[in-house]
Amino acid sequence: MRTPLIAGNWKMHDTLSEARSLVTGLVEGLDAACGVEVLICPAFQLLFPMAKAIADTPIQMGAQNAHEATHGAFTGEVSVPMIAETGATQVIIGHSERRHVFGEKGDQLNKKVRAVVSGGLTAIYCVGETLEEREAGKTKDVVRRQMDEVVGSDVPADKLVIAYEPVWAIGTGKTATPQQAQEVHAFLRGQLAEIYDATTAETIRILYGGSVKPGNAADLMGQSDIDGALVGGASLVAADFLAIIAAAAAAVPAS
Ligand code: PGA
Repeated sequence: MRTPLIAGNWKMHDTLSEARSLVTGLVEGLDAACGVEVLICPAFQLLFPMAKAIADTPIQMGAQNAHEATHGAFTGEVSVPMIAETGATQVIIGHSERRHVFGEKGDQLNKKVRAVVSGGLTAIYCVGETLEEREAGKTKDVVRRQMDEVVGSDVPADKLVIAYEPVWAIGTGKTATPQQAQEVHAFLRGQLAEIYDATTAETIRILYGGSVKPGNAADLMGQSDIDGALVGGASLVAADFLAIIAAAAAAVPAS
C-alpha cells in the first residue's frame, strides 16, 4: 500500500511574507489524519523559515534542485548537505524546466540523484515527453531513456519517488487524461520492476504532474498507478492545494 504524496512545487514564486501566509493557510486547513503525505518545495532562501513555519505539523519540505557536488567553486549553486541542514528531506531532480530551460542532461541528473540519496534525502526524479514527442508516438521511448539514464538499483528504492510530468501539460492548463497518465505510470512501474524487482516496484511512488487542479485531481488520483501529484500553480493557493490533498485522501481505499 503506497501512501499518496501531494507535493507542491512553488518554483520561483513567493516572497517570505507570501510564503508565510500560504503555509498558515495550509496548516489551518490540513486534516493531519487524512492519510496523505504533504510536501512543500519552496525556493532555496525560504527553506530555513519554512522549516520553522511547518515545525510541529505533518507537512514535509523539499528543495527544487541541488548541485551534484557537496561543496566547491560553483557560484550560485546549492548542495545537498546545505539543503539537508535546513530540515528538507526531499529534492526534486530533473524537473522539465531544469531540463529544457537550464539544459540539464541525463548524465548530470544521474549524479544529482546519487548526491541526493548519498546525503540521506529522497530524490523526486521527473520524467516526461514534449508534445512533439507524444505526437510522434515516442512517449514511452522518451521516459524509458530518461529512466535508464538515471535510475539504477544502486539508488535505494525507499529514497526514490518518480514524477511523470508531460512537458506539454506543465503550466499550460492541459492535463493528460487519467487514462493517458495511467498508461505511462504503469509503463514506468514495469520499468522499475526491471531495475529493482516487482515487489520493490510496488513500493515506489509515481506522482503525476502537469496542470493538476482541484477539478481534475480526483480522477487522476483514482488511477491505480498514480500515487500522488507534483503540483505547480495550484500549490500556491492554499484552498486549491488543500482540495487536491482532499481528493488524494478520498482516493485511498478504506483499510
Ligand atoms: P503546473 O506545474 O501544476 O503548474 O502545471 C507542475 C510542475 O511543474 O511541477
